[in-house]
Amino acid sequence: MVENMVFIGGGGVNYQDKQGLSLKYSNRHGLIAGATGTGKTVTLQILAEGFSAAGVPVFLSDVKGDLSGLAASGSPDFKLHDAFTSRAAKIGFTDYIYESYPVTFWDLFGKQGHPVRTTVAEMGPLLLSRLMQLSEAQEGIMNIAFRVADEESMPILDLKDLQALLIWVGENREDLSLRYGNVSTQSVGAIQRQLLVLENQGGTDLFGEPALELSDLMRTDVDGRGRINILAADKLMSSPRLYATFLLWLLSELFETLPEVGDPDKPKLVFFFDEAHLLFEDAPKALVDKVEQVARLIRSKGVGVYFITQNPDDVPEDILGQLGNRFQHALRAFTARDRKALKRAAETYRPNDRFETVDAIRDVGVGEAVTSMLEKKGVPGIVERTLIRPPSSQLGPIDAPTRAAVIAASPVAGHYEKKIDRRSAYEILASRAEKAARAAEEAETHAEQQSTAEREFNAGRRYSGSRVGRSTSKRAGTGERIGKAVTEAVIKELRGTTGRRLVRGILGGFFKGR
Ligand SMILES: Nc1ncnc2c1ncn2[C@@H]1O[C@H](COP(=O)(O)OP(=O)(O)OP(=O)(O)O)[C@@H](O)[C@H]1O
Ligand SMILES: [Mg+2]
Repeated sequence: MVENMVFIGGGGVNYQDKQGLSLKYSNRHGLIAGATGTGKTVTLQILAEGFSAAGVPVFLSDVKGDLSGLAASGSPDFKLHDAFTSRAAKIGFTDYIYESYPVTFWDLFGKQGHPVRTTVAEMGPLLLSRLMQLSEAQEGIMNIAFRVADEESMPILDLKDLQALLIWVGENREDLSLRYGNVSTQSVGAIQRQLLVLENQGGTDLFGEPALELSDLMRTDVDGRGRINILAADKLMSSPRLYATFLLWLLSELFETLPEVGDPDKPKLVFFFDEAHLLFEDAPKALVDKVEQVARLIRSKGVGVYFITQNPDDVPEDILGQLGNRFQHALRAFTARDRKALKRAAETYRPNDRFETVDAIRDVGVGEAVTSMLEKKGVPGIVERTLIRPPSSQLGPIDAPTRAAVIAASPVAGHYEKKIDRRSAYEILASRAEKAARAAEEAETHAEQQSTAEREFNAGRRYSGSRVGRSTSKRAGTGERIGKAVTEAVIKELRGTTGRRLVRGILGGFFKGR
């Protein structure tokens, strides 16, 4: 519609001025805010449509399932057809048509889309600790576990690996304490309990291989349209921490993996973070700082990040300050607190002579927003009251058969569906422990036979018949010896294993810097 813009709707007097989001500045992030039912999801939907049409791949989380409609075309039979066409006419959207978009569905639980996985090592100790709500002391132990695995090139891929590693850490806590500082049994036990919680929340599905390849999120179709990647998040929302941590991980992976591109003509990927308040709710300062840092730096990798939340206040100020493109739907002004938040929200805009920003944010109708886009040289534009364009794709969810068909036809169909379990920490530790135990047992039997022979010799054949039973104290000695043999064998094994770099990422790097 407008050159190098994503068309968003009509502003100015009678909504006649076309409003667009400049592709060039859409990597400078954005915010979609507003009370419930004011039009946030539809705004996200039309932005996804616009980016896709401009050849920009999109990643978004679908919290209520309604964004799956992007995969289907809108229809003249739809109950809001008249409302949509009259809205289109009102804003001069003359080439408004219904169409579907190329969608790839993803699902951490592998039900409503291709399974999306990462490895424990890639997630790193900082994010995992947050995910598992670990205390500082427990986080310290997690760091040690990762460090040992990292130094010794032992792959920690899934939760089984982490479990095995923690057991090993517990067993070797004395040695490890000498090297790294206090490792207490209580802390190790507490982490193990949290690990169980994580398993029950769906962590077993999330961690493992094949891990998500980021290039699969950055595909464009043969017709040049960007793929819209939709993460099913309805079920995921019942584990808000898993949800937030996963998206945060994804963001940090993108940051780590993508090359610098400076300020490209259009973004490489646009990332929508719905229910963004979950990310920041009781997040430790260190984490908020990291998010701020990632947001600031990921821009030059050509990734635009858009937060969607009810109130702009949900987003920490430092991060809010980096969200250059704003779609502020209506905010309520019932309580004194509401009014304060409203006032604060209004203060961040460049005023428009035609109206007071505060009034506009309170008064805008459904599907209307107070907008401000970055313009030339990345300067925020004057605030507008914009009637947002109607969607071209279906409003509301698609049905299960349609979804299944889209999944089956996707370019990554079949690639992620089967989980693979290659040799990693768990298998290494288990097989070594077994071997070592066998070796120790053999040595023990040998020693026992020797000592029996000795005793028998000393006893001068006083006993005929039954052998002397093993004493319990002797048994304990055996256990100890086995333990030591296992530790040694494992350490040897760890040294010998060549593996890829395990801990990376700005969030993983947090621990490495210490
Ligand atoms: N741009 C638009 N064009 C046409 N209709 C719209 C538009 N925006 C919103 N609407 C109408 O308003 C309804 C509510 O919008 P939407 O679902 O986007 O609200 P929301 O802010 O996401 O609400 P919630 O906080 O409950 O998720 C839509 O179902 C649609 O009928
Ligand atoms: Mg919504």
